[in-house]
Amino acid sequence: MAVSHQLRALLVAAALPLLLLSRADAGEIGVCYGRDASNLIDPPEVVKLLNANSITMVRIYDTDPTVLNALANTGIKVMVMLPNEDLASAGGDVRNATDWVKNNVVPYLNQGTLINSVAVGNEVFKKNSELTGMLVSAMQNVQTALANLNLADGIKVSTPIAFDALDVSFPPSDGRFKDSIAQSVMKPMIDFLVQTGSYLLVNLYPMYAAADPSTHISIEYATFRPNSGVLDGKTGIMYFSLFDAELDAVYAAISKVSSGSLRASLAQGDQMLVQVAESGYSSGITFGGPVVVEADADLNAIATIPNAKAYNNGLIRRVLSGSPGKHDVSAYIFSLFNENLKPGPATEGHFGLFYPNGQQVYEVNFQGGRSSCPTNASWCVANPNVDNAALQRALDWACNNGADCSAIQLGKACYEPNTLVAHASYAFNDYYQRKGQASGTCNFNGVAFIVYKPSPSICDPNPSWCVAKDSVGEAQLQNALDYACGSCADCSAIQRGAQCFNPDTKVAHATYAFNDYYQTAGRASGSCDFAGAATIVTQQPKIGNCLLPPNNA
Ligand SMILES: *[C@@H]1O[C@H](CO)[C@@H](O)[C@H](O)[C@H]1NC(C)=O
Ligand SMILES: *[C@@H]1O[C@H](CO)[C@@H](O)[C@H](O)[C@H]1NC(C)=O
Repeated sequence: MAVSHQLRALLVAAALPLLLLSRADAGEIGVCYGRDASNLIDPPEVVKLLNANSITMVRIYDTDPTVLNALANTGIKVMVMLPNEDLASAGGDVRNATDWVKNNVVPYLNQGTLINSVAVGNEVFKKNSELTGMLVSAMQNVQTALANLNLADGIKVSTPIAFDALDVSFPPSDGRFKDSIAQSVMKPMIDFLVQTGSYLLVNLYPMYAAADPSTHISIEYATFRPNSGVLDGKTGIMYFSLFDAELDAVYAAISKVSSGSLRASLAQGDQMLVQVAESGYSSGITFGGPVVVEADADLNAIATIPNAKAYNNGLIRRVLSGSPGKHDVSAYIFSLFNENLKPGPATEGHFGLFYPNGQQVYEVNFQGGRSSCPTNASWCVANPNVDNAALQRALDWACNNGADCSAIQLGKACYEPNTLVAHASYAFNDYYQRKGQASGTCNFNGVAFIVYKPSPSICDPNPSWCVAKDSVGEAQLQNALDYACGSCADCSAIQRGAQCFNPDTKVAHATYAFNDYYQTAGRASGSCDFAGAATIVTQQPKIGNCLLPPNNA
């Protein structure tokens, strides 16, 4: 792909190693507000939920008045849908498409709902193949209707296709549309989308490919976790997520039905011709519910909260920060809510980021920042602002009641710094860890408190650090760095201008991030691996002027 794009993306990545500033260059994240449910909070409550989470785009599956009214004057961009049932009529007669626009779009625009796109049908080839022949004319007629009403500048027309519109998707460069639609439908559709400045909408669910044992796809690769990558041997492009491989397969398929000039411009890589209308991951299963059609053991096994959380947070990071050498893309996460009336496999009702009452199913950071750590490790430290006598009493009590205080004796590893606060922190924390961080075991009459990062004020007699391995290459380090900073590591110190920005190399930044992740996760087993890109050392690494914590050694 795209030398210019690759170069541009690499320059961006080099200048802005982290997530913050490259954002303007990349895509936007939205959510699908599906309502196949009997128990959802009302649309005005949903709008509050969207605002509380800073969600700026939603896709809905109709033009429901209560929903569109609730979204008025919120600044939230809305993709509405002309349902498959109305497709034949809209495709058959431009007057009918015009009526649809007048009844379903214009009134809401007039009252301040920011409709910015119309999806004409949904997965038509898959769900209503008899309408396939009508699809492009329906899109054209809706476009004509919008243009006649002077609305075409602000509203794009497209149609979401299912990924199975491709019959080959690996290696990505071999991606191609099925013969039954390639020339007859996709070619004129792509021409239409390019002419109107729109984009192809694709629904991507790497989860389903990962659930198929014959694909041998690792769950790490399918869920944006650190992995050693999958190579497209024909292009030499390395993929670190199945999402990106699928996205590039769609671009390859488009290229194969494109005119020479479009193909050349796609090869430049700058054209953002694909948006993801749905992508998501199920976090669970319901057995025996009224809507269960079948139970797929392989799918059920990977439909877990940790996998869904990794996928959706990874998707947000990928969209907001871009990925070196890959197309920028915007995406709508499917779905906002768990939907109890969804037909289909047992996992189908569990794609939600939120339960029907608005409570989150798991943490999601819509800004692409830290979402969570793999453990809830915590530490107990002395409060430096209490009087010495109280602190001394608590220190003596801890050492006499199970804390091992030998390391803070004269001449031992944690004698220095020889202060009451440091010794008390050491003893309190030792006690707290021996009690398994149980509730109530970090109190000591109010002279101690819990922290969620290892505190420099707690001496560590057996320190260890997690460092990046240069040998795995920059691409894999970048992939793992993005993951570390998005999940558990605090990467503010390696931002430009911050204390550990220099040396500005991938391996130095990755080491900082991996180590922060490892320490914050309490050195839990597996927390210094990053698909083989990291290793544990017992000598304190020094990178430029940046001493990696713990730095009491
Ligand atoms: C257009 O709409 C009219 C009125 O609803 C309907 O009778 C007619 O069949 C539609 N035209 C097409 C081509 O579907
Ligand atoms: C961390 O704690 C929160 C709330 O205390 C809990 O919901 C969550 O399951 C815990 N996570 C882990 C990985 O233990």
